[in-house]
Amino acid sequence: MPDPSAAVCIGKRLVSGRLSGKVAIITGGANGLGAAAGRMFANEGATVVLTDIDPDGESTAASMNGSVHFVRHDVCDEAGWQNLIADVERRFGRLDILVNNAGVVELDTPVGITAVSFHRVMAVSVDGMVWGCKHAIPAMERAGGGSIINMSSIAAAQGEPNNASYTAAKGAIDAYTRMVAVYCGQTGAGIRCNSILPNGMDTPMVRSIPGKKLAAGPDAGLLDTVPGGQNRRGEADDVAALVVFLASDESRWINGQSIVVDNGASITKGSIPDLK
Ligand SMILES: NC(=O)c1ccc[n+]([C@@H]2O[C@H](COP(=O)([O-])OP(=O)(O)OC[C@H]3O[C@@H](n4cnc5c(N)ncnc54)[C@H](O)[C@@H]3O)[C@@H](O)[C@H]2O)c1
Repeated sequence: MPDPSAAVCIGKRLVSGRLSGKVAIITGGANGLGAAAGRMFANEGATVVLTDIDPDGESTAASMNGSVHFVRHDVCDEAGWQNLIADVERRFGRLDILVNNAGVVELDTPVGITAVSFHRVMAVSVDGMVWGCKHAIPAMERAGGGSIINMSSIAAAQGEPNNASYTAAKGAIDAYTRMVAVYCGQTGAGIRCNSILPNGMDTPMVRSIPGKKLAAGPDAGLLDTVPGGQNRRGEADDVAALVVFLASDESRWINGQSIVVDNGASITKGSIPDLK
């Protein structure tokens, strides 16, 4: 008799059903880290709902094997969250995993920061995560438990002088992650919440940074933001592998943590750009 728990290979990817029977929402799933996580989730047996404001999410979902669906949704829209989660429960019966991954970056300093860039970055990263948690937690309680994974950044752990708005947003994500973990621990619903701090992965967002200029202000200029001490960028799959682990029951004793994925860059030379 074949062992039903044995891992099998489809193409080059190991499939072991680590997320079998689970239903996941991944925001910002049209590109980059969200798309990589979606592909890996589907390979691990999850039903995946990718959401994004980018309509290309439709073709991203269609390019994946397994049960992968796309819903156009702006994470800043709270009413949209209610509709999304109701729709997921109606179509797939439950919600087990939420990956609050959508994010945008602006280059700005503490004196060059503007209301426009600050509120835009905070809205996508922080409002999106707050509304996502608010509406996913009750659905996960109905499902008997769950895992929330918030995409933070190494900017939350090291001082990046050109990332004022982004640092504020990502720092808020890590603090909120701990608070949600403790809240869910006290309600006893079996919901965990962790965050991931990537650095310099090869995605459309990171590829766009070297061409960006600092927002107008006394420090305006062009910055090299390639992570220090690295001779190449990480791959989106390097983060997706951790997202799968945190989403799966294998990580059931890991809660309220912020985990860095940067091949050690931040503990060696760091990746803090030099403004001078
Ligand atoms: N790539 C890295 O090295 C890195 C490092 C640190 C943190 N991060 C974080 O990881 C997450 C994913 O980054 P990425 O590199 O894949 O970026 P990306 O730009 O490739 O993908 C981000 C996705 O978010 C979507 N998005 C933007 N605003 C949205 C909104 N309002 N509603 C819904 N979707 C929206 C975009 O359309 C895009 O598809 C972000 O939160 C980012 O800050 C990435």
